[in-house]
Amino acid sequence: MWRKLTILLAAVLVLTACSTPQPPQPESSVRTTVLKLGFNQGESHPQYQALTKLAADLKQQTSGRYDIKIYATEKLGSQSEVLKSVSSGTVDLMMVSGPLLEQYNPDFVVYDLPYIFDSPEAQKEVLGDADVNRKLYESLTASHNICVLAGFYAGTRNFYTVNKAITLPQDLAGLKIRVQEADSQAKIIELLGGVPVKLGAGQTYEALNTGSIDGAENNEGFFHELSHDTLAKNFSYTRHAMIPDYLVMSTKVLNAMSSNDRQTLLDLVAKARAESDNAMSEYLEKAKKDAEAAGATFREVNQAAFKEKLASFTQTEAEKNGETKKLSAAVQEANRKYPGD
Ligand code: GCU
Repeated sequence: MWRKLTILLAAVLVLTACSTPQPPQPESSVRTTVLKLGFNQGESHPQYQALTKLAADLKQQTSGRYDIKIYATEKLGSQSEVLKSVSSGTVDLMMVSGPLLEQYNPDFVVYDLPYIFDSPEAQKEVLGDADVNRKLYESLTASHNICVLAGFYAGTRNFYTVNKAITLPQDLAGLKIRVQEADSQAKIIELLGGVPVKLGAGQTYEALNTGSIDGAENNEGFFHELSHDTLAKNFSYTRHAMIPDYLVMSTKVLNAMSSNDRQTLLDLVAKARAESDNAMSEYLEKAKKDAEAAGATFREVNQAAFKEKLASFTQTEAEKNGETKKLSAAVQEANRKYPGD
């Protein structure tokens, strides 16, 4: 019940936060506005499934005034390219991983930091708190035409490598590891002794294939769906980060909606978030089984050794300013409530 209320409240509050109410359009002028949504993963991903449902519900609930066309598997470009398109107004919506937003507002780093969340439940609690996130989620509205509608759970991040299996930080010494295009992610690899290589998701397979990288880091779904498991068969559960994906939207497009349609969209976003988050564990487990069947090996490792190397980075970044302190205090509170295993 409380969760439901929080989700609803979040939608209502985000509405107040990112938008300027518009009067409803007269029924006679109904024309379908088809919003373009960029998605970089495949159609079996829970986010894709939840967003597909959202699109159908939006069309139905706005009596055809709005529809969403989802372009999966990087059809509109890599996340960093599509983010620019949302900002410039040529794409309306996208699902983007947290580190990509750090270039516009470095405070986004808090939720991307190593070992900041103790459990998926703690993360879901924090991401569902509209009061905590309002300033962060609104921070790109005026400067970049980007409004964050919601944060989604995207599993934990772990190393996988072509040759040497990673069991301790020193195993990463000198290894070239693909990271997302953000300095915080490169720093994590450097602190562990590896060599970060910033690449878009879609460039990673080729880089593994040609040997220009030795490994990457991600969840089981990305590992299997992008066929990285056919090239880098050693998957090590470092669980060094739990980075959210955000559904972001062009502020101008959001503001052009009538307040009723906008509220409909935001309610559906809250629903999509819950659906996707609930379906993630099963999706990741299936990906793990499929990868194992394809010959990959999954290893539990001593996370404490990795955590020790990364602890001071997490602490420094989390305490960088008043806003990061506030976000990280909310994480700590949620961690106490949902400590995990
Ligand atoms: C995760 C995340 C994606 C992101 C990817 C990456 O899988 O869900 O949004 O693109 O990591 O590392 O690029």
